[in-house]
Amino acid sequence: MTATADPAPLRQKARNTSIDADAAAGFSDVDILRELEPLVAGEVNRHIGMHKDWRPHEYVPWSQGRDFDGVLGGQAWEPDQTSFPDEVRTALVVNLLTEDNLPSYHHEIASIFRGEGAWGTWVHRWTAEEARHSVAIRDYLMVTRSVDPDDLEHARMTHMSTGFKNSHEDQLLHGISYVAFQELATRVAHRNTGHLSKEPICDQLMQRIALDENLHMLFYRNVLSGALDLVPDQAISAIVDVVTDFQMPGASIEGFGRKSIQMALAGVYDARQHLDDVLLPILRQWNIFDRTDFGPAGEAKREELAEFLTELEAQASKFEQMRDARRARRSS
Ligand SMILES: [Fe+2]
Ligand SMILES: [Fe+2]
Repeated sequence: MTATADPAPLRQKARNTSIDADAAAGFSDVDILRELEPLVAGEVNRHIGMHKDWRPHEYVPWSQGRDFDGVLGGQAWEPDQTSFPDEVRTALVVNLLTEDNLPSYHHEIASIFRGEGAWGTWVHRWTAEEARHSVAIRDYLMVTRSVDPDDLEHARMTHMSTGFKNSHEDQLLHGISYVAFQELATRVAHRNTGHLSKEPICDQLMQRIALDENLHMLFYRNVLSGALDLVPDQAISAIVDVVTDFQMPGASIEGFGRKSIQMALAGVYDARQHLDDVLLPILRQWNIFDRTDFGPAGEAKREELAEFLTELEAQASKFEQMRDARRARRSS
């Protein structure tokens, strides 16, 4: 499974057509899947070569475990059994529920990747790695009694029963764009949650998971890079649609609005991080603002993106000022 994609013939086909070249040239999702297959095969190999295997059970302090009440007649959960501040507990639960919804994400990815060849190999490998994340976080939270187990189970049932649906129905390039940004966003949220916990085992675990998310981001980012070379206008169109309509994967969690504000105020994930640590690094890597291969349709989408980023910059600054003022009030 090692090869490099050469999209030049299809790209030339696109250039030979006029307005909205990619679409007019007829690059269906099936065409794109086929043309990018060698690139995906290479990226799967690169990922497996770089991924460091790890064991979730090693990050759980099992000696702290005690039976709960109910079937085993142990000790009921009480809020004073945890020393985590409320915002850290919220972040840990949101991060876990996000990981819990893996069956829905698998369904989304498997549907658009069609499950064949290197694309299928990736879907299964990625799913296996993601499952490790929820296993590890859940075991940690239960053994350390960091969150209410009844509330957590209720939230898991509600969240998974809602499922996850990408707002850009089954469109391949939109799907890849979304996961590229989402993996990096998840990495940032996990990493910051670990730091804020100020608990060494929790921090180690969240940093370990964040490393996985970074490698996942690299895979999707590199695949979309190939798509940009192959079908520039279609790819930029998908990217801009996703960026301007981005929602975190946990957005359907019950009470997410309140939780996300609490997490933003705590510095787990806010507009500044979304812009500076997630959107801009990936857009820079794709060389979006210096590319010369967009047609008129692609140029129009790029302008739309620039306007959106300017607006987001203003929002991020406004939020930071509000948060600084709030912290100053609280400390005085
Ligand atoms: Fe994950
Ligand atoms: Fe991931």
